[in-house]
Amino acid sequence: MRHILVTNAKGGCGKSTLATNLAAYFASEGYETVLADYDPQASALAWLEERSEDYEAITGVSGFEDGLRHAPRNADVIVIDAPARSHGKELTELVRHAETIIVPVLPSPIDIKAASGFIAELMHRGKIEKRQAKVGIVANRVKENTLIFEELDEYLSSLKVPYIATLREAQNYIRAYQRGIGIHELPPYLAWPDWEQWEPIIEWLQSRRSQPR
Ligand SMILES: Nc1ncnc2c1ncn2[C@@H]1O[C@H](COP(=O)(O)OP(=O)(O)O)[C@@H](O)[C@H]1O
Ligand SMILES: [Mg+2]
Repeated sequence: MRHILVTNAKGGCGKSTLATNLAAYFASEGYETVLADYDPQASALAWLEERSEDYEAITGVSGFEDGLRHAPRNADVIVIDAPARSHGKELTELVRHAETIIVPVLPSPIDIKAASGFIAELMHRGKIEKRQAKVGIVANRVKENTLIFEELDEYLSSLKVPYIATLREAQNYIRAYQRGIGIHELPPYLAWPDWEQWEPIIEWLQSRRSQPR
C-alpha cells in the first residue's frame, strides 16, 4: 500500500486540487484508491461527494487521528490531503504517514517566501533526512511568460529537492473539481495540455525517485 501526501503549510496553493486529481488518476487506472482528507475544511471529501457512479470508485476517509484506520485493507494507493498550517509536531506526524510527498507552490511572492520556509522545515524531518520518504515539488497555477513564474521557476530549480512539474492555471481544474472527477477523466480535446503537464508527475511517481528503497 502506497501513501502519497500532498502538503504545504500555505493555504490555497493547490493541495486539494493535486490530491483529488491524483486520486482520480489512480482510480481511473484501476488502482484501489483511498482519499484521506486531513483538512477540517474537507474540500477533498466535498469533491468526492460530487463523483458519480460512472467513474471508478474512490473511498474517502477523514480525520487526522484515525482516518487511516478506516481505510480498506486492500487499498493500493492512499492519497492524503493535508491541512494548511502544518508545522512542527503535526508536520512530523503527517510525514510519518507517507513515503511520497508532493508540495505544490504558487507563483506569487508571498507563496515563494512561505514555501522556502516550509520546504526547509520539511527537509529536516528525520524521516526525510534518512531518505525514508521522498519529496517532489510542483509549480501550480502557472501562467507562462510571466516574470513571477520565471522567478518561481528559478527558485525551484535552485533547490536540492526535485522539481518535478509545472501545472498551468486552467478552468479544467475548476470544472473537474465541480464534477468530482480529475483532469484525466475530462475529454482529451479539452484536457490534453494538462495531461501532458501531468506526465512528469506520473513518471516520477512510477519511478524509484519517489519511493524509498
Ligand atoms: N492549476 C489550477 N488552475 C486553476 N485553478 C486552480 C489550480 N490549482 C488550484 N486552483 C484553484 O485554486 C484554489 C485553491 O486550490 P486548493 O486546491 O483548494 O488549495 P489548498 O488545498 O492548498 O488550499 C481553488 O479554488 C482551486 O480550484
Ligand atoms: Mg485544501
